[in-house]
Amino acid sequence: MMSARRIYMDHSATTPVDPRVVEAMAPYWSEVFGNSESSHFFGQEAASALEQARQTIADILGCQASEIIFTASGTEADNLALRGVAWAFWRSGRGSHIITTPIEHPAVGRTVDQLQELFGFEVTRLRVDGYGRVNPDDVATAIRPDTILVSVMTASNEIGTVQPIAEIGRICRERGVLFHTDAVQAAGRLLLNPEDMGVDLLALSAHKFYGPKGVGLLYVRRAVPLVPAITGGEHEGGRRPGTVNVAGAVGLATALRLVEDERPSECARLTRLRDRLIEGILASIPDSRLTGHPTERLCHHASFAFLGVEGEAVVIGLDLEGIAASAGAACAEGEPEPAPTLLTLGLPPEWSIGSLRLTLGHLNNEEDVERVLDVLPGIISRLRSLR
Ligand SMILES: Cc1ncc(COP(=O)(O)O)c(C=O)c1O
Repeated sequence: MMSARRIYMDHSATTPVDPRVVEAMAPYWSEVFGNSESSHFFGQEAASALEQARQTIADILGCQASEIIFTASGTEADNLALRGVAWAFWRSGRGSHIITTPIEHPAVGRTVDQLQELFGFEVTRLRVDGYGRVNPDDVATAIRPDTILVSVMTASNEIGTVQPIAEIGRICRERGVLFHTDAVQAAGRLLLNPEDMGVDLLALSAHKFYGPKGVGLLYVRRAVPLVPAITGGEHEGGRRPGTVNVAGAVGLATALRLVEDERPSECARLTRLRDRLIEGILASIPDSRLTGHPTERLCHHASFAFLGVEGEAVVIGLDLEGIAASAGAACAEGEPEPAPTLLTLGLPPEWSIGSLRLTLGHLNNEEDVERVLDVLPGIISRLRSLR
């Protein structure tokens, strides 16, 4: 029997927009609608809202407003960071070596692949340990005289592991190498201060923290060379051309303010729910394991591998019970594909096909966790009996 209420436990995929954010954005659709680059009154009004949003974000991140570039997504912010820096160095002939990890989101991973394959950049992909953590000493060893950029995600969308960003940042500073981090999963869950983290470029996406879809940002420290990844007019100082989504920028700023203000209490609440979920699943399901780090992990993130079970089948089983979750790997032509990240962590393929991610948020309470704990063991044992 399906429970009456649907349960959403996929907050790392996206989040519902907070009604307070919707309210803050409301005037910027049809009342204050000007193009922020127009010099007339309508443009000035939009520009003033845009600059206020930029300042709010800068105050939260502890940086200058001029260091924030609005983009249309987290993906675009990562692309701008990587291509922007790589092309700037390419132009000046000052090196072509990039250091990253094998477990980045495709927004970083595929962009680096393309820089390597089409533009001839050399790439070092650092090894990660069984929890998906980078050893900062490996970064120090990998840096060469021609290294232009290090890119390591703040926290993993797949396994929730948080990286030692400040330590890597310190090494990059000492060695004079630029450092980019994809912090898309970290907003509202970790304190984000580029100065303390030692990062030069940092990407965020509003829809991951109760803001609207279709707006992100890139923090770029002053004086970091950046060639625009898309070309056009003068918006965002020419670094990200295209008419700016003012309503989106206001929504992003409002959402960031709210999640940052509520972070201590919300993270404590979610940590309790997460730990109950992890403990309950590991205790009631044989041949199950937590993926990612047991303690250095995002407060809302629980991820698992189940021996001999396809993650996608578990997601379908949960969906039939009214519970929305996600799997780390998709089926290709009917054959279960192991999740590349889990293989990288050293999990055997028979474990790596069975990944499940449950990500908590505003929409969840204790009852939801107990409901998952009630139905998941049955789903896994039914799937195992079918093999
Ligand atoms: C770690 C990480 N980076 C980048 C992205 C891409 O963000 P967007 O959906 O805004 O393009 C995501 C989204 O899943 C993510 O989890």
